[in-house]
Amino acid sequence: MAEVVLGIETSCDETSAAVLVGEPGRPELASLVILSQDVHKVFGGVVPELASRAHLAALPAVVDRALAEAGVGWGAVEAVAVTQGPGLVGALLVGVVYAKALAYARDRDLIGVHHMEGHLFAPAVEDSELAPPLVALLVSGGHTLLLDVPAWGRYRLLGQTRDDAAGEAFDKIAMLLGLGYPGGPAIERLARQGDPARFTFPRPMRDDGFDFSFSGLKTAVLHVARASEDLERDRPHLARAFQDAVLDVLVAKLERAVRLTGYRTAVLGGGVACNRTLAALAAARLTGLARVVVASPRLNADNAAMIARAGWFRLGRGERSDWTLDARADLPLPGLEPAAPQVPVPPSPPAP
Ligand code: KG4
Ligand code: ZN
Repeated sequence: MAEVVLGIETSCDETSAAVLVGEPGRPELASLVILSQDVHKVFGGVVPELASRAHLAALPAVVDRALAEAGVGWGAVEAVAVTQGPGLVGALLVGVVYAKALAYARDRDLIGVHHMEGHLFAPAVEDSELAPPLVALLVSGGHTLLLDVPAWGRYRLLGQTRDDAAGEAFDKIAMLLGLGYPGGPAIERLARQGDPARFTFPRPMRDDGFDFSFSGLKTAVLHVARASEDLERDRPHLARAFQDAVLDVLVAKLERAVRLTGYRTAVLGGGVACNRTLAALAAARLTGLARVVVASPRLNADNAAMIARAGWFRLGRGERSDWTLDARADLPLPGLEPAAPQVPVPPSPPAP
């Protein structure tokens, strides 16, 4: 088992490298470097070709910096863990090729990691005691996944989005309200000044199974924003009502999954889990049912520490990638098992 793992993440617009060091069961974060690509702010969203080029320019320096901050030389690194997918294929390719070249040249182990499995492992970077069984709600710019995790590496898909990811909805509504990219943090900030009673938006599929849908909600906000006579005045109220609707649906499904499984631990992960209102709402609604575990924001946004941590787990099981490892924009989650038949669960109480 490797005791020093270098992680590399380049799936979207963060160039990141991290080093984990430790005993097999207790990796410690020795360094984490995250370089956010600001260039995309000008365009209101990630421009894939620019992202690839920026990764190419920054990655060698980011890796060197992570090693230096960890105080480990190349000689000590035993394995390289890299995001294989899903994500922007050109961006992923930069990380995968770089990781392969490093591992090949120095004859080290290589492991390709699924980006969402990385998000799942993020809280385990800070909390080495975290262990399944647990329910995980992974909400990012590209995915909304509700997983039953009976053990690390074994996943049952309870629900996912049928259209837009939750983070994507935040980004689109932020754009509509003129708040720039990325939208999630801006919406959360503005929503604090919003009156929750001023507007109410539908809760799509809230009381219906485990899947999600956010595109209709987006349209509902669009219509109300267009009809507004004073958008400047209404913006905080719209942000508040939109955020309330998304978070209410996310937490209702998480609660249903906790009731279905009877698990006592619920993990929130992905960029949207940086939203403190989401974490607070989940903790409030799951009081007495499950402990809500959320990593710190630096580990919930895209970062290489979570990739190194998921890689550490897979390396520990004896898994290795070979030199044919390739970037895959649509990589399926490894270890996905058919969902258990869903027994009816009592409906969630109405939102306060
Ligand atoms: O996991 P992530 O960093 O990248 C992807 O894998 O997509 O997630 C990025 C998403 C963006 O859509 C961003 O707007 C959202 O996470 N996000 C938030 C917050 N911070 C980031 N959404 C809501 N509230 C936040 N505070
Ligand atoms: Zn992500």
